[in-house]
Amino acid sequence: MPGEEWTTADHVGRYLDRADEYPRRAEGESVLGEHVPRDARRILDLGTGDGRVLALLGIDRREMVGVGLDFSEPMLAAARERFAGDERIELVRHDLADPLPALGRFEAVVSSMAIHHLTHERKRSLYGEVFELLEPGGVFANFEHVASPTRRMHVAFFAAIGEPLEDEDPSDLLLDVESQLGWLRELGFDDVDCYWKWLEMALLIGIKPARRG
Ligand SMILES: C[S@@+](CC[C@H](N)C(=O)[O-])C[C@H]1O[C@@H](n2cnc3c(N)ncnc32)[C@H](O)[C@@H]1O
Repeated sequence: MPGEEWTTADHVGRYLDRADEYPRRAEGESVLGEHVPRDARRILDLGTGDGRVLALLGIDRREMVGVGLDFSEPMLAAARERFAGDERIELVRHDLADPLPALGRFEAVVSSMAIHHLTHERKRSLYGEVFELLEPGGVFANFEHVASPTRRMHVAFFAAIGEPLEDEDPSDLLLDVESQLGWLRELGFDDVDCYWKWLEMALLIGIKPARRG
């Protein structure tokens, strides 16, 4: 199964131990937060992990109802612990390689460092499913690990985040920014752009057009 390492407590533990240490990450996440409307009520997080992004968004969105999807039991256990007693958050076990389950409509769909584990074909079809379940005017914000244009830049990124290249996730299927922005435009998203980028960390955003009239 692609991404199988995420189902082990060891891999999950190593990631969570250093999740706050990635340079510039907080900056990218705060730009994501700026583009999710404060009054967004239903927010879906794809590959939620321990619920890091839902927790950040929930700080100044008291009315928000969040749904976090992930296929990793150890991650979901960490998310359950984080959100214990918080009825605003629902956690759903789901493999993103499969079509999204019926979850209703959302004002925002977010994702952080997760979709790059899917095949390119599935990334594109998932973006299409996201478009369908967004409300008109809704935002898709994908804070993502993207491909560098050259091997040298890829090596430099790993040096910059202080991780040996050998520790690269075996399931990483990195894709360049331009291809992904092109797909979002083809699918009908408006205002598509890379809103923030540092080396291989990028924030890709598109807005589903609002209904006219
Ligand atoms: C780098 S972690 C990011 C977690 C969280 N979004 C964050 O920002 O801290 C990648 C997440 O993607 C999840 N993931 C990877 N492949 C997946 C798949 N096929 N279906 C569902 N979740 C997946 C992993 O279980 C893990 O929680």
